[in-house]
This record gives sequence, C-alpha cells and structure tokens, in this order.
Amino acid sequence: MEVVQTIADLRARVKAYRRKNDQSVGFVPTMGFLHDGHASLLQKARSQSGLVVLSIFVNPLQFGPGEDFERYPRNAEKDLAVAEAAGVDIVFMPSVDEMYPTPTRTTVSVSEVTTRLCGASRPGHFDGVATVVSKLFHIVQPDQAFFGLKDAQQVAVIEQMVLDLNLPVEIVPCPTLRENDGLAMSSRNVYLSPEERQQALVLSQSLQQAKAFIEGKSASSFTSQELEILVRDHIQTAPLAVIDYAEVLSYPTLEPFEHSHSITTLIIALAVKFGKTRLIDNLILQVRK
Ligand code: PAF
Repeated sequence: MEVVQTIADLRARVKAYRRKNDQSVGFVPTMGFLHDGHASLLQKARSQSGLVVLSIFVNPLQFGPGEDFERYPRNAEKDLAVAEAAGVDIVFMPSVDEMYPTPTRTTVSVSEVTTRLCGASRPGHFDGVATVVSKLFHIVQPDQAFFGLKDAQQVAVIEQMVLDLNLPVEIVPCPTLRENDGLAMSSRNVYLSPEERQQALVLSQSLQQAKAFIEGKSASSFTSQELEILVRDHIQTAPLAVIDYAEVLSYPTLEPFEHSHSITTLIIALAVKFGKTRLIDNLILQVRK
C-alpha cells in the first residue's frame, strides 16, 4: 500500500497503473476515522476493481460556521491499518493547502435535490461536498466510486452531479452498516456520551416501526404525514433527542412523497441531535403504487 500526499504523485501512480493494466480503478472518498462501514466500501471496491484508491481528507468546505471541522475525529494510524487490511492500493491524504492552494473561486452547486433535509439545515454543505468530490474525481479519475447510503442525500447529489456534468464515473451506492443494536455506524458516534449513545437507538427503532407500518400497504393507503408523526413520536421518547428533521420523501428525487404519483421508492430521512452531536439515518423502501 502506498500513501501519497500530493495531487501530482497520485496522478502519476494512477497513470502508471493504467499504462500497464486494463482493469478498473475503484475510488472510496472519505474524511477518515474509518469504521466498519468504510471498510465495507473498501472491500466492495477491492472485489470490483483492479486498483483501489482511498482518499482521507477532512474537507473544510463542507462544514458551516460553528460546526465540528476543528474537532472532527482524526486517527491516521488506525485509518492506515484499516486500509491495509481491506487491501487498498493507494491512500491519498492531501493537506488543505494541497487541495485548496488558493481561495476557491469555483463552486459546484447541485440544485433541487439539495433544497431539503441536510441541504436545508446545513446551508452550503452540499456545495462543499459536490466541489470536493468533483475535484477528487478529476484528480483520481476513477471508473467507479463507492458511497455509503447512510448519507442517502449525498448519494443523490453526487449521482445528479455526475449525470449533469457527464463525469465518466459509475457511482456505486452501498448499504448502511449498523452496530449490533441497530445504531448506524458513523465517525461522529464517538462524540456520544454513554447515555446519548443508548438514547440514539430511537433513530433505527423509529425507522423499523415505520417499516412495519408500511409493510404490505400500497403508497395510496398512507400519507407521509402519518409516517412522520409515527417516527417523531418514537424519537421523542428519548429525553435527550432534539429532532432537526424527520421527513418522508421520494428517492432519489427528494420531492414530497404525495406530489410524485409515479414513485415506488421512498426515503424516511432523519437528523437528530444529542447534545452537540448530530446524527443522521434513513430507510429507503420500495412501495406498491
Ligand atoms: O461522506 C463523506 O465522508 C464526505 O462527505 C466525502 C464524500 C468524503 C466528501 O468530503
């Protein structure tokens, strides 16, 4: 496994690989502090690609003022061990100066799919994500890029960007990995106190309750409001939970559920704060029309 810090170095290595091989290049972009969810993306990339590139870069552009950019958890040593175990070939770990040597004058901004959910509660967040992912795609030039569906809105945004800008990369969405008790894996889980960690189970529990409620029903036999109330009521049984959003939308368009008559796929998307920690989770479901 090689660890590279500069764009020139990374490009040279990918180019050298492509010169000698006709196998695909798989790419897993991350902000580090890797957990089993990331490892599953790397394993998937390993099983489908000749060369696996992992990037670790905490991207300042996607954090708003007062968010956790400074204290975002970092552990390069452990990350490299996880990468090595997953069979990564190249780890790209650029500095902020390497990625943004001069103030950014170009922003990639995806409309519509960014208006709700995290796009509404974290203004500018998806501009930061789309801009850095588009830069990383230009730097790495992968054939496939692997993203976790825990951030399903991010997947929808990246897919839209790739479509609109004709980027020659296939986006591979991968399932959310969960702890044994159902909590979705996230680098931010480490912020939780034991009490918050216990109460955070209401996220996955409420999604399971919504799933059971929908089971066997057609899309016309329930409303998004009914589902939202069901989910909110369960989340509010946790005294420390503060709901940022709990919404039912069509996926991947992220339009209101009722307005989209042809939909068969919906998302129940949650963002809930426990103290200073904001957790997201979701469930994507097929429903009969
Ligand atoms: O999902 C993440 O970790 C980040 O948003 C990403 C895609 C690496 C861009 O910084």
